[in-house]
Amino acid sequence: MKIYIEDNYEAVSKKAALIVASQIILKPKSVLGLATGSTPVGMYSELVRMFNRGELDFREVTTFNLDEYYGLPKQHSSSYYTYMMENFFRHINVPEDKIHIPNGMAENIVRECLEYEERIRIAGGIDLQVLGIGANGHIGFNEPGNKLNVTTHLVGLSAKTIADNSRFFDNPQEVPKEALSVGIATIMKAKKIVLLATGSNKAEAMREMTSGFVNTQVPASILQTHSDIILIADREAGALIEEIND
Ligand code: GLP
Repeated sequence: MKIYIEDNYEAVSKKAALIVASQIILKPKSVLGLATGSTPVGMYSELVRMFNRGELDFREVTTFNLDEYYGLPKQHSSSYYTYMMENFFRHINVPEDKIHIPNGMAENIVRECLEYEERIRIAGGIDLQVLGIGANGHIGFNEPGNKLNVTTHLVGLSAKTIADNSRFFDNPQEVPKEALSVGIATIMKAKKIVLLATGSNKAEAMREMTSGFVNTQVPASILQTHSDIILIADREAGALIEEIND
């Protein structure tokens, strides 16, 4: 595991964007696993800047998002579909048919999950998975207490996650209580993982996920067993951990 502790949010965003850019430069047909949340917004802006400067080309890239709220139409202003379009996809040249986001409105959720897994498999698996982390140690929407060996599935969100997500909704009643999430087993199959964490509310989760103990109460803790994982934290999120960059 490599751990980089950067001075601030901008430096975290820049480093993460450079890692994604290197992946695409080294393999133009890369399959990217992408995350939402407030943390990667700066990374997406940086990638858009690189694209506008002609330094990056997304024409052959395929993307799979980690999660989507269940029962929220994709046009909703707080859907992860809208987030991805606004923050990233509509500013770059990734072809629409290469963009994959779980369909939270699918009539048959079990089939939607199986097909999502199948699409990832047919694409050749995820080359680089970008992750954020929930304050409770969740990744994607794999909440504490869930099994760690699951593929894409419907998740009941924890009270903490619902409360954390309420800031993205005008009306607290609207915050979905369930979501579709790529599972930990699928995340662990990614060839490379980069996890970003910023802000002091992530410091405890970062310490627990790097502590050496794997447990279902801190789903991110399983990432310690991945053979190619990079954590990038700002000083606040990294306050309780040490840098490892050799
Ligand atoms: C949501 C997303 C996660 C994300 C987490 C942290 O739960 N499903 O993928 O990592 O929020 O979000 P933020 O970056 O806003 O703290």
